[in-house]
Amino acid sequence: MESAKCVAVILAAGEGTRMKSSLPKVLHKAAGKELVRWAAEAAMEACGTAPVIVYGSGGNLVPETIGEPYAYALQDKRMGSGHAVMCAKEAILASGAEYTFVLAGDMPLVRAESIKKVIDEAKNGNYDLLMLTGMQDNPTGYGRIIRKNDMVKAIVEEKDATPEQKKICEVNLSVYCFKTSALISALEKVRPNNAAGEYYITDCLYIIGSEGGKCGAVIAEDISECTGVNDRVQLSAVSKVLRSRINEKHMRNGVTMIDPESCYIDAEVEIGRDTIIYPGVILEGKTKIGEGCELLQGSRIVDSEIGNGTTVQNSVIESAVVGENTKVGPYAYFRKGTVIGNNCRVGDFVEVKNAQIKDGAKVSHLTYVGDGEIGEETNVGCGVVFGNYDGKKKARTVVGKKAFIGCNTNLIAPVTVGDGAYIVAGSTVTEDVPADALVIARARQVVKLGRGKGRYKD
Ligand code: UD1
Ligand code: CA
Repeated sequence: MESAKCVAVILAAGEGTRMKSSLPKVLHKAAGKELVRWAAEAAMEACGTAPVIVYGSGGNLVPETIGEPYAYALQDKRMGSGHAVMCAKEAILASGAEYTFVLAGDMPLVRAESIKKVIDEAKNGNYDLLMLTGMQDNPTGYGRIIRKNDMVKAIVEEKDATPEQKKICEVNLSVYCFKTSALISALEKVRPNNAAGEYYITDCLYIIGSEGGKCGAVIAEDISECTGVNDRVQLSAVSKVLRSRINEKHMRNGVTMIDPESCYIDAEVEIGRDTIIYPGVILEGKTKIGEGCELLQGSRIVDSEIGNGTTVQNSVIESAVVGENTKVGPYAYFRKGTVIGNNCRVGDFVEVKNAQIKDGAKVSHLTYVGDGEIGEETNVGCGVVFGNYDGKKKARTVVGKKAFIGCNTNLIAPVTVGDGAYIVAGSTVTEDVPADALVIARARQVVKLGRGKGRYKD
């Protein structure tokens, strides 16, 4: 029998005042991914269908940032968590799902397996509402669970709780699985008669229960999964947990990390097996690292691809592609549009921007390669500058293969250097160089005998 469908609703309309931010809270990132995306992805994996995200503050920023495949419902006035779910009513009904799972959008640690467990238990036990609760040593701020004869009867919010109720340590974690029909009919009866004047989703429990519905609560094994993010301290705490999960996944897949606590790896990064990552490495965005690479201390690689067997040391690589068995750094800087081939050497203090360095080429020290191309097996000496900007516009420099560019050469773009050309050190090249030519573009040396004496020290 096919299991009954469940749609998830992610509540993400809160303002997140305590973040003190111009960005809606749920768009803040933890381990490279927005808080609400973490929650939505977990819900999607558990339910098998795209959740509905209820958004409010920040205009259309939430749907614009998070995008497909999710459905969105706008809560234009923040009138409470119950009202937020009500805003998703059309989308819930349109999904035709028999069950509705509700989750707060600021809980990025919830795992898909945990969501699935609650849903399965709700279905198996034929619950109208099954929720997740947790035991808190300090329950301040949470909704307290009121039980009667082992059944959950009501949830009382901090603001509305009596001193006796405030002592209850079992709290609501804002994770619920409803039978859709029970949810919709209960929501219509929720009234804002509480201290906050809000429509509470938590009131559904009492309403469903008092009409003879079956309500239950499972106590979460790992309450830390339900940690909500309200301020930047909590943001850093959940980021740390997510990062350690990510690093553990890579290590289990065959990546060595000398000191995982010091490696910051975003959620979507891919890393091949037998790659070794040294302390202080940061891998961001959609970065892809090949197999058998060595990423040495202090490198930051963003939205880039690194081929198998390549070594990167103390370098910054942004939106670049680096081939196989290449050595990068220490202290190289690759900016947008950099493409480095296989078996290359791009050494210390070399900056590359919008340029291609082809297989086997060497650019070993103190060089700027901007807007151009360096052919296969060409050797670029120390201190070479691609003069790509004349003060008004950028132009390209193309160097052929097996060429030799002597130390401290300036290549003034637009200029082309043919295959096999040889440029002597200190040249300033302003005109195209044919293949196999020797170029000397510097002033002849003048020697004046005896005239140096006494100019510095006697
Ligand atoms: C809520 C629960 C409380 C629980 C706690 C766990 C209610 C009434 N109370 O309290 O029992 O212990 O979470 O963290 O739900 N939201 C909207 N629109 C609104 C109001 C809220 O989308 O108009 C969203 C928020 O963005 C948030 C969630 O609903 O994701 C919970 O709302 P919040 O105001 O943070 O409730 P808490 O006081 O934390
Ligand atoms: Ca120079």
